[in-house]
Amino acid sequence: MSQSETQVLSVASECVPLVKTGGLADVAGALPGALARHGVRMRTLLPGYPAVMAALADAEAVLEIEACFGGPARVLAAEVDGLDLLVLDAPHLFDRPAGIYLGHDGRDWHDNPQRFAALCRVAADIAGGALAGWRPDVVHCHDWQAGLAPYYIARNPDAAGVKTVLTIHNIAFQGLANAALCGSLGIDIADFTPDGVEYFGQISTLKAGLQFAHKLTTVSPTYAAELMTPEFGMGLDGVLRARSADLVGILNGIDEDVWSPEGDGEITPFKTPRGKGANKDALRTEFGLGEADGPLCIVVSRLTEQKGLDLLLGALPALLERGGQLALLGSGAPELEEAFRRAADHPNVGVRVGYDEALSHRMMAGGDAILVPSRFEPCGLTQLYGLRYGTLPVVALTGGLADTVIPATPATMARNVATGLQFHPVTQGALAHALSRLCDLHADPKTWGKMQRNAMAHPVGWDVSAKDYAALYAGLLGQTE
Ligand code: ADP
Ligand code: GLC
Repeated sequence: MSQSETQVLSVASECVPLVKTGGLADVAGALPGALARHGVRMRTLLPGYPAVMAALADAEAVLEIEACFGGPARVLAAEVDGLDLLVLDAPHLFDRPAGIYLGHDGRDWHDNPQRFAALCRVAADIAGGALAGWRPDVVHCHDWQAGLAPYYIARNPDAAGVKTVLTIHNIAFQGLANAALCGSLGIDIADFTPDGVEYFGQISTLKAGLQFAHKLTTVSPTYAAELMTPEFGMGLDGVLRARSADLVGILNGIDEDVWSPEGDGEITPFKTPRGKGANKDALRTEFGLGEADGPLCIVVSRLTEQKGLDLLLGALPALLERGGQLALLGSGAPELEEAFRRAADHPNVGVRVGYDEALSHRMMAGGDAILVPSRFEPCGLTQLYGLRYGTLPVVALTGGLADTVIPATPATMARNVATGLQFHPVTQGALAHALSRLCDLHADPKTWGKMQRNAMAHPVGWDVSAKDYAALYAGLLGQTE
């Protein structure tokens, strides 16, 4: 370990390749490697879910905790896939079947406040010097699950001097808990105020992080601005406006080795858009779709209100009438799953309900276009995968989708920089119009080919953003990078 390295503890509730429910896991998994090139050593504190515990070999117990929110626990140190992990092994909190946040009944585990408070408490202990031989300079917390860590650190005199960063991946999830839990969660009643962790009569662990972290980030510049408006701030816009000087949007990247058209272990590799053909044929076969003249559109998504896919159900005729096709992979709200299953009665619509990482790669390689009609989207990763594989994104003009896609307009087409389409407002009609424009563009192979090449050349890696995070840490520590 070099003395000049900045030592950062990342506190995350999910992390690729161990456990993932969404993009947060991709980001938590990619940041350490990306930051290593910028003089930052990042260790990642994760809950010891069964999938995480199963991946640990040669783990070393580095901390024993007698009483950790209802049972004994320990912290294990291990290296997995190049990640430097600290794992909170607390079987009474994390050794459970079903989901990492939800039980078999699809509802939040009743003790989620305690489960993630435990993670945060341990982060604060580590910040306070609980581990022999290592202490972070910065604790970087992700979302509501890690929101109490900046609060506990601020109230821990042993951790004075340690800086905290909270990244908002999605403000829709706010970590609400009953006010009666203040005592058991170690929240001082004096801090249960509108200026502290109180949110309309409840505890909000996300708000705790927003109030107490030294710096706040979110995952795109546009979402940073949107968060400060009532329309997108989901009740926390006032808090964010008050902290606007400390809030910055840093765009997510993707792991360009894992998502590579030149070979990702799943596809027929290609270097130029022309090489997509074999993948497109394979994808059609996999989804039971025949030949068609229009674009083969893909969707890989959670099926929730956020993602706007109910709008696609209504807009679909605009694509199908022009000979377009849809291949969708997703899971989530039962009514949306059912509606898409029904849509698949059409011969040019193929639907897979479920979660399938390998299939998602084959879809990126074989699709002509990827549809992301989100009502809000802090960053979004699938449009970035699409760009990398020459699969043109059709996206709503919001959040990170606005920051990553260069829409086809007369000006961008004249300068040959367009990479996709954006639509606004986020309505069924505007999406239908975008799909019809997509069909026009697809019918002109020269233009389409140019856009595909632009897309594949668009930078989507971590280089720039890792530098921004490193500079943020350096700024907090009074260093210049
Ligand atoms: P969010 O985190 O809001 O779901 P992102 O676009 O940031 O949105 O990240 C979603 C991640 O989850 C991407 O890596 C995407 O490929 C993946 N994903 C979503 N649904 C599925 C699915 N059904 N099968 C495979 N991967 C999926
Ligand atoms: C959240 C957001 C998504 C973002 C991801 C990673 O899940 O919904 O837009 O890409 O976090 O930051």
